[in-house]
Amino acid sequence: MRRIVFCFVSLIWLTLSANAQSLVVNDAKFSVGDSPEWKAPGFDDSAWKTLSLDKTWDDQGISNDDSYAWYRIHVTIPSSILTGAAFPDKVLLALGSIDDCDETFLNGKLVGKTGRTPEDKGGYEGKWDTPRKYLVDPKDILWDKENVIAVRVYNGGNPGGFFEGPVYIGQVTLDAIAALTVTRANNGCDVSLSATSKLDGKLEVDATDPITGETSTVSSKAVKLTPKKGHTSFVPAVGQNTLTITYRDNRSGETLSGTFCPAYILTPKAPATPRYNGPKVFGVRPGSPVIFRLAFSGDKPMRYSVQGLPEGVTLDPEKGVLSGKVLKEGDYKLTLKATNSKGAAEADFTLKVGSKIALTPPMGWNSWNCWGTSVSQEKVMSSATALINSGLADYGYSYINIDDAWEAEERDSEGRIQTNDKFPDMKGLGEWLHSNGLKMGIYSSPGDRTCGGYLGTLDHEKQDAETWNEWGVDYLKYDWCGYWKIFEPDPDKSVAAYVRPYLKMQKFLREQPRDIFYSLCQYGMADVWTWGHAVDANSWRTTGDITDTWESLYDIGFKRQTGLYPYAGPGHWNDPDMLVVGKVGWSDNLRDSRLTPDEQYTHITLWSLLASNMLIGCDLAQIDDFTFNLLCNNEVNAVNQDILGEQAHRDVDEDGMQMWSRRLSDGTIAIGIFNLNDAPVPTFLKGALGKIGIEDVATVRDLWRQEDIPTDATYIIPSHGVRFIKVKVQEEL
Ligand code: GLA
Repeated sequence: MRRIVFCFVSLIWLTLSANAQSLVVNDAKFSVGDSPEWKAPGFDDSAWKTLSLDKTWDDQGISNDDSYAWYRIHVTIPSSILTGAAFPDKVLLALGSIDDCDETFLNGKLVGKTGRTPEDKGGYEGKWDTPRKYLVDPKDILWDKENVIAVRVYNGGNPGGFFEGPVYIGQVTLDAIAALTVTRANNGCDVSLSATSKLDGKLEVDATDPITGETSTVSSKAVKLTPKKGHTSFVPAVGQNTLTITYRDNRSGETLSGTFCPAYILTPKAPATPRYNGPKVFGVRPGSPVIFRLAFSGDKPMRYSVQGLPEGVTLDPEKGVLSGKVLKEGDYKLTLKATNSKGAAEADFTLKVGSKIALTPPMGWNSWNCWGTSVSQEKVMSSATALINSGLADYGYSYINIDDAWEAEERDSEGRIQTNDKFPDMKGLGEWLHSNGLKMGIYSSPGDRTCGGYLGTLDHEKQDAETWNEWGVDYLKYDWCGYWKIFEPDPDKSVAAYVRPYLKMQKFLREQPRDIFYSLCQYGMADVWTWGHAVDANSWRTTGDITDTWESLYDIGFKRQTGLYPYAGPGHWNDPDMLVVGKVGWSDNLRDSRLTPDEQYTHITLWSLLASNMLIGCDLAQIDDFTFNLLCNNEVNAVNQDILGEQAHRDVDEDGMQMWSRRLSDGTIAIGIFNLNDAPVPTFLKGALGKIGIEDVATVRDLWRQEDIPTDATYIIPSHGVRFIKVKVQEEL
């Protein structure tokens, strides 16, 4: 939207009149290098190049990686810009996004900074995707005269510089000075309104019935606030209604709004008696460490025992952790047993010692969707501890994967990769995880830099694989990003050129005396699913990054996974990216996933059907009941972990309804009936099953509700929601 406004405004810029209330600047003077003198308004930059602000400097023929450059914008700012301003105490300076961090000076004074340069405290932190919206004091502007905006940019890895110009200078809009946040709270939501200027307006709550679509106003009250005080209130849920909370500003006439959909838990509480919820099979290579935690829910403490353990493997009977090594290949049939004060349970299990690992999709946690580059060892430990204490580990979640931003700026004198200050003891972390039957994951790039601008593995493949082995790494996410620098100048654009960096790492990873899940991350280029298994990858990302919106879920989950089912199977999985449920934020600022509860049921259903990696992306220390239930329905997870490993295919795509199904090892069929429409849709179950050729139904089980349901009923499927069922077909006589 803003972009369209920019384009329009830029057309009239040339004839900027006395009444104009905003202006745009398309280009700037530019120089590579760094000097404190370049921020001074009087510095003579006439010999500098002129660069456009809408393309990176690489796109304008300048290569300047891991280094500084400056932009200087000369602009006359007319005082008419503030005519009729609702918030005249600030002026907005919007620079678009800058790759990777910047310090912005107006007439020599620092007015904004985003990201951290390598010299800053805490070291380099890239923020290439953060839009820069700086609020400037009008007193710092030389009205109706020339001003100089000098921007010092540090670029970690290519490309670099401004890339979302033009620069916009104008009146402050409500969204730049105020924020309305709606956070899930018990049986309702907390609303918080904060601002950096005084506000005077009205806060209104509207409730919309999800089935009829009818809306009514539930409450409306005046709010006046000063920047220091802010406003917070609790809004109780109104049944299953969607609540829209709107702040209407009297001065600007603008609004801010947020919605709240009450979370509803469909799954009955797990019994207090032990129940096995983990995979039925685990693969390990001969001689590699066995790291496996028995996944039984039920009251604790619990005592565990295992029958049929092969030589070399032992069980910790209190923690339920298997460890050791098996040298002889074979299928070892075990009986896992757990006992607590309420009863006991047993489960059949096969330990498959052979060449294949990852016989079912990996389940665990990854730091990226919550912490982004602010991840630290402490935060990882906090989620790992919560994985155990909350009970998630009792459902088979076992990988604790550290994404980008653990790497130090420099290798040591022998070229070994090192952790940065945020990770004081990676080996110790690995040992702690293993002693609890959890596995440790790490992240790197085949390029010299990672996506976040940290040190990559290029030319140190063997050494890094060995270091990770020493630390106890069990999972590597290997992210293309920095490899563009090698790939782009090379005329070879064959599939082999895409395969090359991954093939190289495969060799060194597989030489390690431990099993390292090999996760390719190159966003699906060159149809990675057709060759991922050839580099012995255990999964490959099929798309770009997911985010917590319906558009992203729809695009990644529904559009881009269609047709990929032939490529998944035990040992190698399509990966549509990590889960966006619970508290996410890609930074220190966490928020509730913006997916509605129905969209979250859809998300987990689809990922189960797709036999996807189940890597939770939220802060586990803050997991709420709804999210826990979403992630810990043993019947839903059993579809994801089914030993046949067949990924679902899309059978129906009609009028915004889709049906996806997969065959399970017990002879039943798991089916998701998804409503992608913006309104609820009644569905006649028998009719829906008929569409995929299922006529003689013996039983239908609703997997979210964990109950058998009649086949001749009509169900209303909410907008963006799902019915997830397991169907047993009548046996022929
Ligand atoms: C890429 C990946 C993400 C994450 C970041 C880290 O964007 O696709 O999943 O690993 O890099 O920088």
